[in-house]
Amino acid sequence: MDEQKKIPRHVAIIMDGNGRWAERRKLPRKMGHAEGCKVLEQTVRDAADLGIDYLTVYAFSTENWKRSEEEVSALMVLMGFYIKKLLKVAEEENVRVKIIGERSRFAPDLVKGLNKLEYETRNNTRMVFAIAINYGARDEMRRGMIRMAEDVKAGKLEPTAITEQTIGSYLDTADMPDPDLLIRTSGELRLSNFLLWQLAYTEIYVTDDLWPDFNKEELQKAVDSFGKRERRYGGRLTK
Ligand code: FPP
Repeated sequence: MDEQKKIPRHVAIIMDGNGRWAERRKLPRKMGHAEGCKVLEQTVRDAADLGIDYLTVYAFSTENWKRSEEEVSALMVLMGFYIKKLLKVAEEENVRVKIIGERSRFAPDLVKGLNKLEYETRNNTRMVFAIAINYGARDEMRRGMIRMAEDVKAGKLEPTAITEQTIGSYLDTADMPDPDLLIRTSGELRLSNFLLWQLAYTEIYVTDDLWPDFNKEELQKAVDSFGKRERRYGGRLTK
């Protein structure tokens, strides 16, 4: 975290409320997701402008597969379209994209697009933009624990040498600092299986705005509210 300006170094966002935004306008839910994609694109630019170093968004959870076939396929189409759009945004804004979650469940074309997005932006330096897709924190831990158990079995890791850092290094976010600020839109007070390990000490900001109504002013408000807080890590108070 930048102690001078009190800008959170890493901001995580649960983008909730696309469906409600559409329903209130008597539009199909997919229109809410389409609007949400546009807002996401702008939020990447705004976060980079504010000097945030890492932005992580919850775009598609392991639970989202349970939605109607129609909604899941609309989300897949949107994702395919927005991957291309995000490549352009990332290049313009000098942003490196990183995918977290388990991508192999997606169609091969989509996987190819995601890989390309990561590869082509790998040398960008202004901000890291992590997109969580087919992501669930418990699944992330399960996948990490499998790899850790394999390393123990292969004699590469001594069980008694496992520290909290070791566990973090087996998660999808291994090369990222923990989030300083979590923003959740549409007023729900839940973590919804997002970054459970990483959010241990994170400040939480909930806005009633639905995700398609989120904008730079709201992001600024969240960042300002973070700046005014005194952060506690257990007994230790930091200003
Ligand atoms: C929550 O709204 C939002 C989602 C399930 C999807 C969020 C995804 C995006 C904004 C786009 C992601 C795009 C890319 C390119 C990765 P909801 O449907 O749960 O809203 P509701 O709670 O009002 O029903």
